[in-house]
Amino acid sequence: MLSLKNISVKYGSFAAVHDINIEVNEGEIVVLLGSNGAGKSTTFRTISGLNKPAEGEILFEGKSLNKVSADKIVQLGIGQCPEGRKLFPAMSVQENLRMGAFVHRRKKDEIKKSLQHVYELFPILHDKKEDAAGSLSGGQQQMLAIGRALMSKPKLMLLDEPSVGLAPLIVEQMFEVIQQINREGTTILLAEQNANAALKIADKGYVFENGSIVLQGTSLELFANDEVRKAYIGA
Ligand SMILES: Nc1ncnc2c1ncn2[C@@H]1O[C@H](COP(=O)(O)OP(=O)(O)O)[C@@H](O)[C@H]1O
Ligand SMILES: [Mg+2]
Repeated sequence: MLSLKNISVKYGSFAAVHDINIEVNEGEIVVLLGSNGAGKSTTFRTISGLNKPAEGEILFEGKSLNKVSADKIVQLGIGQCPEGRKLFPAMSVQENLRMGAFVHRRKKDEIKKSLQHVYELFPILHDKKEDAAGSLSGGQQQMLAIGRALMSKPKLMLLDEPSVGLAPLIVEQMFEVIQQINREGTTILLAEQNANAALKIADKGYVFENGSIVLQGTSLELFANDEVRKAYIGA
């Protein structure tokens, strides 16, 4: 479904991502692991068209994304839930969700259905739909960010560190919803530092270090790997 082939990304002369290869198949949950500054968000922004690769090719459903603009990439079916959530804090929950449907703005009935779907996944967002996004708790804001990404009806959803700053119980609930979204047919690419929670739901993963992929494998393989355990799981 998504292939990154020998992708390098630069900020000026600094290569933040160097010669990486990633394959995401339809239906999978794939996780990118790595500590701060490893290159996960840069990779995400390159897939969603906000950064452009200096080298290599990105294919989505067989089509090159290299020269496609960010809004067109959303239209093609890649939805991004960015690092730090990037909500509009003064706008209501429902207004934030509607912003996510911007690419479908002429299809009123579809937007209504998508809203219903998000409210079924996250009943708390329905209870708080008139409240300002900025007034929600951290966990609720993350759910809103995921809900907003769903409003574009993505085939592939990019989730950049959704568990950051959240209590363990909330993380668990959120990962359950991510699994449910996946079961309903959305392919998921997830970046996480919480390897433990992420590998439990992922099919496979890639480990980033200093902009390169140093290890890849199925979740079971990575979970059993001593280096991964030492660096990201703490056992
Ligand atoms: N806009 C930017 N300009 C310059 N350097 C950046 C920018 N964004 C990220 N970087 C650098 O690129 C590297 C990878 O960062 P990032 O992709 O954010 O990693 P991660 O998401 O894994 O924490 C880091 O060294 C970071 O400092
Ligand atoms: Mg990041």
